[in-house]
Amino acid sequence: MKINVITGRFEIQKSGGAILPIFEDGLQGTVARRTDKSMGGMISRLIKQGDFQPKPGNVHLVYPEGRIATKRLVLAGLGRKSEYTINRLRMAVGKAAQQLRTAGARDIVIATEGLGPEAAETGQALIEGTVLALYRFLKYKTNEELEKQKEVQTITLLTESSSNVRPMKKGVKTGELIAASTAMVRDMVNAPPIDMTPTVIAEKAMEIAKQFRLKARVLERDRIKKLGMGGLAGVSSGSVQPAKFIIIEYRRGGKKPFIALVGKTITFDSGGISIKPAENMDKMKDDMSGGAAVLGAIRTAAALNLPLNVVALLPATENMPGGGAYKPGDILRTFSGQTIEIINTDAEGRLILSDALAYACQYEPGVIIDIATLTGACRVALGQEASGMLGNNEALKQKIRDAGEKTGERVWELPLWEGYYDSIKSDIADMKNAGGRDGGAITAAALLSKFVKKYPWVHLDIAATAFTDKDRPYSPKGATGIGMRLLTQFLRDYEGKS
Ligand code: BES
Ligand code: MN
Ligand code: ZN
Repeated sequence: MKINVITGRFEIQKSGGAILPIFEDGLQGTVARRTDKSMGGMISRLIKQGDFQPKPGNVHLVYPEGRIATKRLVLAGLGRKSEYTINRLRMAVGKAAQQLRTAGARDIVIATEGLGPEAAETGQALIEGTVLALYRFLKYKTNEELEKQKEVQTITLLTESSSNVRPMKKGVKTGELIAASTAMVRDMVNAPPIDMTPTVIAEKAMEIAKQFRLKARVLERDRIKKLGMGGLAGVSSGSVQPAKFIIIEYRRGGKKPFIALVGKTITFDSGGISIKPAENMDKMKDDMSGGAAVLGAIRTAAALNLPLNVVALLPATENMPGGGAYKPGDILRTFSGQTIEIINTDAEGRLILSDALAYACQYEPGVIIDIATLTGACRVALGQEASGMLGNNEALKQKIRDAGEKTGERVWELPLWEGYYDSIKSDIADMKNAGGRDGGAITAAALLSKFVKKYPWVHLDIAATAFTDKDRPYSPKGATGIGMRLLTQFLRDYEGKS
């Protein structure tokens, strides 16, 4: 897709489709008023009659029939000006762009007047919103079906003040990068598990490392065992796919401590011996979403040249019920030396994360963030509107919360009080891997907390948010790519240095 930022008058700009964002407070700004006038007052009439209410997410397609230069015009509601957020802008233009593509537009112009607060942020959000909304996963569609799916070729951001062009172009560049990384994450998660094995993810990681000149290493099966990563080794023992422990280091932060990003990378979660029911088991290809988000974030950080040191850790394996599989009753000795009694082989995420978190501690990191499709219980608690957040450090939690609000990838905190630890006490090992149904998202995090020592740490449970079974404003059905933009925003804002 080609993206431009130009100056010009909206009404006379030729295009297959144009988007005019509109606030609920009435037609403000000269561009909207002029366009309305050129259209013979049609826009204000539509609003007055109630045919189009400029509420957030409402869009309305009209055919100007030559009264302005575009073939199709979509009015995109932004809601009240006083309640404006950058995420509403992403949602509005995302939906508008989808409607224009469906109608047949191949090039889209967007009016940017009055969107603020500043041109760079607006440009970034407009590109994120449209490009992410237009994302489709077509790799496995045959040519015949592809014929019908025409893509948008160009998006042009139109401004009337030439001083906006430079900052907006800068924002557009960032937006393009972030959208591309998010699409990479979505592609990885949407891919069938047979094509997204630990080996394939390790190759992908090495490719990214090469492209951005990052230091990367993949620990193979023997090394994993030798190092004492009993969690990862145990979970992988039922699979014919060899486990990989993927390490990528990005160093542009001088002597600053590392930010450790840890992503659960289960390329398929059958549940293992404690096997899952058949219904929805296909969705368990998304169990590597945390790892993919971490990969996307370190890629983006490198492309943005952020002045930070970041290490990405991806414990990668399938969870399968093969003959050699680990069993309920087994006890695994993890990388930290602590032992875990297996109650349920389907609580595998915390096992591989226990090794990775303990490994992260070796970096003496400034912060550790892990991200994981960890528990169905998190979905019960929060639904699909927020990812679960638990951690041991208020300042870090606040930074993640802020990044969540900015990106629209919102998080909501769950408590990690002492009492919850009772449910993971084991009679014969240091802890057990499943604590029953009550507070499942919390007891899972309680186990993780035993592997981060005193380092500031946040755990993000994205079990409910990594995949959506309905279309969302700029996240079509399927993998959402969640975490990539959240982590990237966190990194960009870290200590306010970039
Ligand atoms: N990968 C699943 C969690 C999950 C569930 C992700 C639904 C996406 C959608 C995880 O490994 C799991 O199976 N968790 C169990 C834990 C239980 C056995 C303690 C769960 O949530 O049921
Ligand atoms: Mn599981
Ligand atoms: Zn899992």
